[in-house]
Amino acid sequence: MKTSPSMMNEPFTASSAEPGGWIDPGIPRSTIIETLLQRHSVGPRWLTDPGPSERELATAIACALRAPDHGLLRPWRAVLIGRSQRAQLGDLFVRIALDQGRDAEDAAAEVERAQRGPVLLAWIARIQADIDDVPMHEQWMSAGGALTLFLTALHAMGYGAKTLSGRKCRHPLLQQAFCGPQEHLVAFVTVGTPTRASRPRGHDTIENFLGPWQPGAPPGVHTPN
Ligand SMILES: Cc1cc2nc3c(=O)[nH]c(=O)nc-3n(C[C@H](O)[C@H](O)[C@H](O)COP(=O)(O)O)c2cc1C
Repeated sequence: MKTSPSMMNEPFTASSAEPGGWIDPGIPRSTIIETLLQRHSVGPRWLTDPGPSERELATAIACALRAPDHGLLRPWRAVLIGRSQRAQLGDLFVRIALDQGRDAEDAAAEVERAQRGPVLLAWIARIQADIDDVPMHEQWMSAGGALTLFLTALHAMGYGAKTLSGRKCRHPLLQQAFCGPQEHLVAFVTVGTPTRASRPRGHDTIENFLGPWQPGAPPGVHTPN
């Protein structure tokens, strides 16, 4: 791998403030780097048929399995919600919306929400509290890394996707419907073919996310824009 200026502890140049200006021109812009730089979410209302085939989904899951995973715990799994199961899911959404105090008309809109998008999955994390050497936050990291690889693989295949949770994912009715012991329903992932062109949002300042260690100094990085 080629060493970038930041890795050699040199300051970024002025061009680092420009969108994309921080990318080391010495790094070959392979297709995979372009793909990673372009990944972005596409909302369910902008997704249509065709969705990924089972084989394509399996490939995306195989990519997700490349996420770093301390202890090889595989602290996640995905659940495919079939077309014929959307109505059942919609019923649950409505019951939860009513339980959470929304009025009947507002709650009824949840029926349509469960139908959106050609492919719908639930992302489940299985976080174990009693694993030596692998604290829970490391398992969450791994589950999130896997989700990101899954989304990125689908993006690389030309599909759009979006991860959405909302308060309902933490409701006992949905937790019971999807989860076993030590499991959490993290979110739903909708996947399909984008109906409009879109791009990644925002331009992050890389210096906020990568900087030299300054022991004892107040944090100089990780400051959200
Ligand atoms: C686990 C998880 C749950 C999320 N839940 C929601 C949500 O309920 N509502 C929402 O607007 N965005 C949610 N997001 C964020 C979107 O999926 C998306 O990442 C965000 O809009 C930024 O867009 P981008 O992926 O194109 O950068 C969630 C993301 C993750 C990882």
